[in-house]
Amino acid sequence: MVLHINIDKIRTVVIEEVIEESPSVKTIVFNDRLSSNAKPAQFLMVWIPRKEELPMSVMISNKKDHAAITIRKHGFGSTSLFEKKQNDLIGIRGPYGNYFNVSKSLKNPILIGGGTGLVPLMRLSTVLSKMQRRCTIIMGAQTQKEILFKVILEEILSKISTNIIVTTEDGSYGVKGVVTDALKYILKKEKFDMIYTCGPELMMKSIYNLSIPYSIPIQASLERYMKCGIGICASCCINDKLVCKDGTVFNESQLSELSEFGKVFRDKSGRPSYY
Ligand SMILES: Cc1cc2nc3c(=O)[nH]c(=O)nc-3n(C[C@H](O)[C@H](O)[C@H](O)COP(=O)(O)OP(=O)(O)OC[C@H]3O[C@@H](n4cnc5c(N)ncnc54)[C@H](O)[C@@H]3O)c2cc1C
Ligand code: FES
Repeated sequence: MVLHINIDKIRTVVIEEVIEESPSVKTIVFNDRLSSNAKPAQFLMVWIPRKEELPMSVMISNKKDHAAITIRKHGFGSTSLFEKKQNDLIGIRGPYGNYFNVSKSLKNPILIGGGTGLVPLMRLSTVLSKMQRRCTIIMGAQTQKEILFKVILEEILSKISTNIIVTTEDGSYGVKGVVTDALKYILKKEKFDMIYTCGPELMMKSIYNLSIPYSIPIQASLERYMKCGIGICASCCINDKLVCKDGTVFNESQLSELSEFGKVFRDKSGRPSYY
């Protein structure tokens, strides 16, 4: 029997575990089979009762039929979510959006993420590990205390050939600088057949620019202000694309046509602003 589940209907889930990842980042684990089967880079719309509804990438969980979200404490909505405790309730709908495409012919991908932009790359790492693909990861943080998921990544990738490069802006761990500094260096030494990236848009724009002279295909997961998450309100548009529905993942040919990529974003009212 095929069970049809309406992913647009809010599902109330109990927070089973709260993991402190860094002073400003927490992961909330819950039981939800649909989310546990999300593809890399898909997101949930997360309802924080009486407060806000926010888009959040789906984080992995090692418990069967479980998934998670990883929250960086920022403004009103994310702080309300960050303060949730074990046994509290949240609502979720989704998973939504397209996802990172991993072709069978892929041989040597590089994954680049900063901060909570690493969340979609965790699920992707799990896929690459199962496919026994060699991979390189560049992960960026401001300081050593803010480095996320390094131990879990090492565990996921322990059975395949991996190169994990950590950059910190203050040089307190790994390579001093930002992820693009490490990328510039490694691109001169090694040939990659795909770049997967998620994080701040200006970081992804620099990565896209660096990929061009080497003709490396790229898949970037973009973020925009989202209200409905399902292609109705247009709050998430970038040029004529809807990030929630046409994305969040865009490839190099799509990115080359998005003149607003790395230049224009929109606030809650839809008014454009410049980076
Ligand atoms: C597809 C997607 C996946 C995301 N995944 C994560 C994640 O895994 N972890 C994480 O911590 N954050 C994630 N975010 C960002 C998150 O949704 C919020 O933007 C962020 O937590 C700040 O919210 P706030 O209410 O605290 O910020 P506020 O202080 O209210 O706003 C600060 C800024 O946050 C952004 N923002 C606020 N509300 C939204 C919204 N509804 N949609 C998009 N941007 C918004 C705007 O740029 C705003 O200017 C994701 C966003 C998108 C679009
Ligand atoms: S968030 Fe409403 S159309 Fe994308």
